[in-house]
Amino acid sequence: MRNIRAKTLLLAGALALLAFPLCKNFIDHKAPGFHVDVREDDSQIRQPTKNNSYVYSWPRCQQNVSAANMTDFSSLPVTIKDFLYYRHCRHFPMLLDLPDKCGGADKSAEVFLLLVIKSSPHNYDRREVLRKTWAEERLHNGVWIRRIFLSGTTDSGFEKKRLNKLLELEQREYSDILQWDFSDTFYNLTLKQILFLEWMERNCPNVRFLLNGDDDVFANTDNMVEYLQGLKDNDGSKHLFTGHLIQYVGPIRSSGSKYFVPVQVQKSDSYPPYCGGGGFLLSGYTALVIYNKSQSIDLLPIDDVYMGMCLAKAGLGPTSHIGVKTAGLYIPSKRLDEYDPCFYKDILLVHRFLSARMYFMWHRIHDPNLKCSL
Ligand SMILES: *[C@@H]1O[C@H](CO)[C@@H](O)[C@H](O)[C@H]1NC(C)=O
Ligand SMILES: *[C@@H]1O[C@H](CO)[C@@H](O)[C@H](O)[C@H]1NC(C)=O
Ligand SMILES: *[C@@H]1O[C@H](CO)[C@@H](O)[C@H](O)[C@H]1NC(C)=O
Ligand SMILES: *[C@@H]1O[C@H](CO)[C@@H](O)[C@H](O)[C@H]1NC(C)=O
Ligand SMILES: *[C@@H]1O[C@H](CO)[C@@H](O)[C@H](O)[C@H]1NC(C)=O
Repeated sequence: MRNIRAKTLLLAGALALLAFPLCKNFIDHKAPGFHVDVREDDSQIRQPTKNNSYVYSWPRCQQNVSAANMTDFSSLPVTIKDFLYYRHCRHFPMLLDLPDKCGGADKSAEVFLLLVIKSSPHNYDRREVLRKTWAEERLHNGVWIRRIFLSGTTDSGFEKKRLNKLLELEQREYSDILQWDFSDTFYNLTLKQILFLEWMERNCPNVRFLLNGDDDVFANTDNMVEYLQGLKDNDGSKHLFTGHLIQYVGPIRSSGSKYFVPVQVQKSDSYPPYCGGGGFLLSGYTALVIYNKSQSIDLLPIDDVYMGMCLAKAGLGPTSHIGVKTAGLYIPSKRLDEYDPCFYKDILLVHRFLSARMYFMWHRIHDPNLKCSL
């Protein structure tokens, strides 16, 4: 229920190295392959190559021990403490990369809609069903839809290794995963978002539009393409950020909430307007503006609110799209079947769907014999 809550590379690399004088140990594991080339020692700094096939690794980011000096730090939940200790960390080594996802930076304008789906390593079944349904890579109405899952790492020891291996296997078969070596937790979703935007600026800067969302939503991507094609400016070069609009809300201050944001994280009692993170559409232009602004805004653990903050800083705002139902669908009567495909045919996105329902619904709404009187 996320809806209820309220560069250039070299330069960036150099800045990051300057900004983290504490960092000395380099990640020393071997890369699993797939265009990934992780440095094994710190004796040389690898430079980006023209074809983007290099992957840099970042020095391991150190805990900010002075965070513990904040007022009442000791009374905060461990997850918030953890967030504050690592809030400054924005760069992590890539484990799985897809530099050619958009055909290279130059050709990336040929991708009309890039589906960017946050998915933690455990969610294998969700990824499988998405690949067969709304997130299938395809040509629709003459334009290309491409898919990317964003992942971090979870667990530790053998289980972490196993899950990384699983993603590696999936990558071999589908080439649709970006994975970084940071812990894939709820309060790290903003980090995941920013890592993606940084990657996008490098590898897919000219994609026209993006659907940014979760792996448990039902998205009618056919309708999305048609909606985007119908816009006056349908080449992605103008501002667009639309979805389930949330306004006039602020941080939840009760520590029991999943969305707890204490004053130590954010002083202000209000959030700027934003779109529920279950799924929203944005233009390539807006994605790059958000990335640019993000570099001067401290991370906030709530990813969708953070996007709103970046927009506000750019003097832009989100808009509401009536077809995005991240709070669920309104069914006029209890006697009606809430999974009647006719309710789903014309929407853009609904939160949240179990895998089997997703598969079934995608097929039902494409049934040429489906008759809807609505
Ligand atoms: C953000 O965009 C502005 C204006 O184009 C530019 O001057 C600035 O260098 C950019 N900042 C970053 C961090 O990319
Ligand atoms: C990319 O460039 C590097 C170094 O310039 C080269 O070793 C590598 O084979 C190239 N990769 C591709 C896919 O062209
Ligand atoms: C904050 O924490 C650091 C490390 O624990 C400590 O050395 C320092 O004296 C503390 N006080 C302030 C005001 O930074
Ligand atoms: C570490 O935390 C302190 C206290 O919140 C903050 O003032 C400081 O800017 C932080 N340092 C970094 C590198 O983020
Ligand atoms: C985010 O990921 C980093 C790197 O794995 C980890 O150190 C940190 O604890 C995570 N933060 C949260 C809030 O989970």
